[in-house]
Amino acid sequence: MSGYHDPRTRCDRTSAWARLRAHYEGAGRGFDLRAAFAQDAERFERFSQQAPHVFADLSKNLIDAPTETLLLELARECGLEAYRDAMFAGAPINNTERRAVMHWLLRKPEHFSAPTQYGKALAATDTVANGLREVHATLDAMLTLAEQVRADEVITDIVNIGIGGSDLGPAMVAKALDELRPGNKRLHFVSNVDGMELGSLLRQLRPERTLFLIASKTFTTLETMTNAHAARDWFLAQGGSQDGLRRHFVALTTNLEAAAQFGITTTLGFWDWVGGRYSLWSAIGLPIAIAIGAQGFRELLAGAHAMDEHFRSAPLAANLPVRLALLDLWYRNFHGFASRSMAPYSHGLRRLPAYLQQLEMESNGKGVDAQGAPLPYATAPVIWGEAGSNGQHAFFQMIHQGPDTVPVEFIALREGGRDLPGQHPRLVANALAQARALMMGRPDEEDGHRRFSGNRPSSFLLLERLDPASLGALIALYEHRVFASGALWGINSFDQWGVELGKTIARDLEPRLATGDTEGLDASTAGLLQRLAS
Ligand code: F6P
Repeated sequence: MSGYHDPRTRCDRTSAWARLRAHYEGAGRGFDLRAAFAQDAERFERFSQQAPHVFADLSKNLIDAPTETLLLELARECGLEAYRDAMFAGAPINNTERRAVMHWLLRKPEHFSAPTQYGKALAATDTVANGLREVHATLDAMLTLAEQVRADEVITDIVNIGIGGSDLGPAMVAKALDELRPGNKRLHFVSNVDGMELGSLLRQLRPERTLFLIASKTFTTLETMTNAHAARDWFLAQGGSQDGLRRHFVALTTNLEAAAQFGITTTLGFWDWVGGRYSLWSAIGLPIAIAIGAQGFRELLAGAHAMDEHFRSAPLAANLPVRLALLDLWYRNFHGFASRSMAPYSHGLRRLPAYLQQLEMESNGKGVDAQGAPLPYATAPVIWGEAGSNGQHAFFQMIHQGPDTVPVEFIALREGGRDLPGQHPRLVANALAQARALMMGRPDEEDGHRRFSGNRPSSFLLLERLDPASLGALIALYEHRVFASGALWGINSFDQWGVELGKTIARDLEPRLATGDTEGLDASTAGLLQRLAS
């Protein structure tokens, strides 16, 4: 494994890149969606597809068959398939941290017949075979614990203390599948080091009825450890005993030693080959399993696994994560669109945009290639958004009439939730209407204020319903899309060095807030520090 060689060619060094540039300067730039639909009766079929649990209509995007052909050639020239196979073989593709990238293994069934399904590379890899055994042992232990908590009538409140990947994924999924949560359990997610968050929650809790989950891959993250200590202090101050601590605190971490030092005896572990933002399938998923039960969690994994298999084996032209990644590249590097707005028309998916911000921007927000050379082109777009139809009444004005083009990704459900089902058609009609309005516009309107240029691109993803399997597949779709776009851009999507500098500076500044010491600081930081110093 140490002799791992990155099989990729950077996108700008392929011949397809130059051909795409010429294509963009020719037909690409002036592409008109309305004309494209008028000319091609098959356009909807050509640019839509059914992937596991997810139907995707990509036809309202600024591409035609020649564009997609060139983009697929680019993917082949970049070595996307070999790079994907390296991930599925357990190669250390996270080269800066010398780690494999195997969150997909967390979803793999225990008795999946690797040799025939996965081919030689995977079957031969010890990392994968050993990993799979450990994955299932931990999964079984986690699901047993989840069921115990669900059956425990005394515990009413479960508090997950974690941040970033140890918060966003579990919180997003637990909210999405809230209909499955037992009525006698409340789930809380605390992430911020602002004491207002944990403090206001603790006022509502009783220690004997509360279970704290300390979720941190490293078990060193400042926010999480600060909140974990505050929760422990509160527990003891409320009369809790050391023995009680052992029953009311669980650690979810790869750092078993630090968890033991903290005084936690129930720890569910995971592995360094699970990135923080890819960890909801691991022990970090315990709050999800408590919310939806062991069966529900297994269905979530099964949905994601179905998408893994699709990504691993579907031809590039019919591979949904790849098609979405190619669109991302086309928009970012040729059209120059700087952002993408996520519009899930589902209250359950209201935290999806925040979750995807970390997944996409922490993974692909890089300015150097995997070898550390500066990139001459842009990478991750800004991901932002809000559940529909709320977004319509906030920022959609800009998406319809502002000078920047912002591709929108709509997500809708064919079946609504159990609550007030009569409202679902109204919700879905709004999603369809926005996508159509963005494309058609009202270009002939004389009054400029009322004129809509139209030709604004969008994708439309459709799930049958918001159940564990569909959600698992949807999340895995995004993970693989991020992998594929990062592969094309030639970057390492699995490190996050960009978050380090701020952490170091904060460690230096915190004691200065007490002393007012501004030595060596720039004038702005010094001026602010003096105002903040106590
Ligand atoms: O600082 C960024 C980060 O490392 C994320 O990548 C990660 O998800 C988050 O912090 C939390 O890390 P941990 O799970 O180790 O507490």
